[in-house]
Amino acid sequence: MPASCNTISRRFCIAPMMDWSDRHCRYFWRLLTQEALLYTEMVTTGALIHGDRHRFLHFNPQEHPVALQLGGSEPADLARCASWAQEWGYDEVNLNCGCPSDRVQSGMFGACLMAQPQRVAQCVAAMLDACDLPVSVKHRIGIDDMESYQNMVDFVAPVAEAGCRVFIVHARKAWLKGLSPKENREIPPLNYPWVYRLKQDFPELEIIINGGIQSLDEAEAHLHHVDGVMIGREAYQNPWMLADVDARLFNSRKTVVSRDDVLAGLIPYVQTQMDAGAQLNHITRHILGLYQGVPGARKFRRHLSENAYRKDADIEVLTDAFDKVKASGFGDRKAAVG
Ligand SMILES: Cc1cc2nc3c(=O)[nH]c(=O)nc-3n(C[C@H](O)[C@H](O)[C@H](O)COP(=O)(O)O)c2cc1C
Repeated sequence: MPASCNTISRRFCIAPMMDWSDRHCRYFWRLLTQEALLYTEMVTTGALIHGDRHRFLHFNPQEHPVALQLGGSEPADLARCASWAQEWGYDEVNLNCGCPSDRVQSGMFGACLMAQPQRVAQCVAAMLDACDLPVSVKHRIGIDDMESYQNMVDFVAPVAEAGCRVFIVHARKAWLKGLSPKENREIPPLNYPWVYRLKQDFPELEIIINGGIQSLDEAEAHLHHVDGVMIGREAYQNPWMLADVDARLFNSRKTVVSRDDVLAGLIPYVQTQMDAGAQLNHITRHILGLYQGVPGARKFRRHLSENAYRKDADIEVLTDAFDKVKASGFGDRKAAVG
């Protein structure tokens, strides 16, 4: 499928999340929203160059629009990978400059690249040369002793100069030593005003805000200041929130009216994937939060957690989980429509 290049909207994006935003999860999200731009988990240039490229790059055409996130710091390697992103049909290619894990730091990429804006500029220029896709950069508001707004501008300006038009800003800094990746998503304080100011100072850039956004009300408030929002954990843990994205943020029709419709759409996919050798829990682990907050949610989650990992688990485990919610008396369709 040809890439849709610059026509994609980044008004609402779902974050790259290692181990979470895999192709099964993205298929599930796509049943909830047609409009959101989905990001893959980070894939390193090394994995693509030396590993099973097909396995890492393969995705379902229904996932569009979908962006490939790369981890790397060698312009030539990133250029090769960007050209593969285009060949495989991705809609955007993104460079990770925000992930603070030790593994990533030892590979000299991720958030530590914020200390090397010129290198990032070279990476972006090489990627843009190698493909026709939009190239975006996901970064923090700073790392370690980058204390000021100006420090962030000193990173963004040369990268923009090199041709990057889209910046996804996780609105907290990262401490490269002393905090785990999880702590780095929780402890450094959020600073949304710096991201708003970046949009004011660089109106020609597309600025997407990320970090701690937990509802579409909050998303709408941010959209008064920036071009788009990116949500990670809340979308994963409470995926039903995504059902309102198309109507509220894009003025288009809702993709689904009930959670039951989502499951009905997922079941044929699960069956096809299992026929092709997938394990049931590799898909169902992503949907545990679908009924969050409604009667039967715990039973749904528990039934899947206790049964879907078994070697002989088949589609009935999923349909039985669904029956347990219904038996709890949750009138989803009525609740959703009414
Ligand atoms: C499990 C998990 C894995 C993540 N993996 C990545 C990743 O591969 N690349 C990346 O840029 N950010 C990654 N992140 C960070 C998210 O993309 C996002 O920036 C962060 O969670 C803040 O957004 P949120 O508060 O909406 O979750 C990850 C986050 C989580 C929770």
